[in-house]
Amino acid sequence: MGMIQLSAKDKILSSCLPGKANLQLQEIQQTMCKLRSTRFGYFCGYYPKMKDWRGFRVSFQFSVSYLFGSILQGSSLGKWKWNSKLDCQRVTLTWQVHEYIQCLARWQPCPSPIDLLGSVRDTFMAGFRFQILVAAACLIFPLLNSPRRIEAQGLWPGFYSLSCPNVQDIVTTTVKSHLRADNTVGAALLRLHFHDCFVQGCDGSVLIDGPSSEKNAGPNTGLRGFEVIDDAKTKLEAACPGVVSCADILSLAARDAVVQSGGPFWMVPLGRRDGTVSLIADAFGLPSPVDSVARIKDKFLQKGLSTGDMVALTGAHTIGQTDCAFFRYRLYNYNSSGNPDPTINTQYLATLQQKCPLGTSGSVRVALDKDSPSIFDEVFFKNVQQGNAVLESDQRIYQDMSTQFMVDMFAGFSGMSFKGSFISAMLKMSSIGVKTGTDGEIRKVCSKFNHL
Ligand code: HEM
Repeated sequence: MGMIQLSAKDKILSSCLPGKANLQLQEIQQTMCKLRSTRFGYFCGYYPKMKDWRGFRVSFQFSVSYLFGSILQGSSLGKWKWNSKLDCQRVTLTWQVHEYIQCLARWQPCPSPIDLLGSVRDTFMAGFRFQILVAAACLIFPLLNSPRRIEAQGLWPGFYSLSCPNVQDIVTTTVKSHLRADNTVGAALLRLHFHDCFVQGCDGSVLIDGPSSEKNAGPNTGLRGFEVIDDAKTKLEAACPGVVSCADILSLAARDAVVQSGGPFWMVPLGRRDGTVSLIADAFGLPSPVDSVARIKDKFLQKGLSTGDMVALTGAHTIGQTDCAFFRYRLYNYNSSGNPDPTINTQYLATLQQKCPLGTSGSVRVALDKDSPSIFDEVFFKNVQQGNAVLESDQRIYQDMSTQFMVDMFAGFSGMSFKGSFISAMLKMSSIGVKTGTDGEIRKVCSKFNHL
């Protein structure tokens, strides 16, 4: 690129880049070019190797570049105004976008776009145009980004196409027939998959019966839906014996539960094998409704899931129910204050108190999303905004500044950005610690290890 002259302004801007004190001049100039010139950062020589790439990747890069170029221009619509604080934020965002695009181009698993926005949200959240772009990004990116991550884990949707071609139909039909008998079982299947994946990876360990198995751990209280998995397994063993793992059945059943509740469809990558360990002690790391947002974020991070993934997955509470036991403490004497949790909407508080009176211990089920408890939609996030979340951990994602804007984002645009981000996060979650190849086994019965 020859000699590059950096102006004083360029030097100040480059000092804004986090942890990039020794940044190469060429990189700085490319960043400046992207910042300054047009929304088509693409034309700045920002992607010098693009002519080597296959057609669709070129156009993909182009749309990414255009999208984020537009975000950078943002509300100022291309009028560059010098303001060191704002500029630093823009430089930081640009740099993050640069790294994100590099990550995508390397064909690697990359974070969700919603995470990219945390550090700069205050500057840009005001613009409606910006929000639309983010919603679109949340919708488009998962579809482009997630499959490569999953393939990297050795899973793919066509895994059984020769060995058990009807696997999807058999699981879907089984889930549908159980839902006809009890329409709350879909939520139970979704939760089951989450509790499986967070302990020992997605390996069906949660399905094992026995006094010392995961199933009996406190955090697994209330897990349901095991009979649906057993039923599907029996049918699959009849159609293709010893082929389909219980872990894969769980993953398919969770997807079907979402679809049957009106949620989005995605192709489930397959090829997981079943684990041979299931211990109560391992299940205590599951997130709890009394955990702080920081703690929950950390628990998700340990599984390779970002804050954006965590908030999107919490949206699973758009369907299903909970027991008074999990939230009664919020209703009367929260934190020994003698009063209810002040973040509960006062109108809804009366309803919750009526359903879960003080001093009773009877098992009463209360919808996690009061307005559309059996429909998979963004209404759950609207309820969180209004103080109508039932679980404390659900409400806290609106009090915490690192997650509040995500709730706002997911609550809008008819759930578009929620559903896109949910798919992406589910694909990540369902590939946690998977066993493939010759690891583990294919159980004959989902509730028992083969050697028993
Ligand atoms: C963020 C941390 C989370 C916490 C603290 C949490 C906690 C809980 C609790 C306490 C219940 C009530 C259980 C009962 O009373 O039977 C519940 C229900 C449920 N959870 Fe979560 N959860 C979390 C994340 C997730 C995730 C990631 C998913 C799935 C992707 C999920 C899906 C569900 C579903 C669908 C239900 C309803 C189950 C039913 O109706 O039987 N949850 N959750």
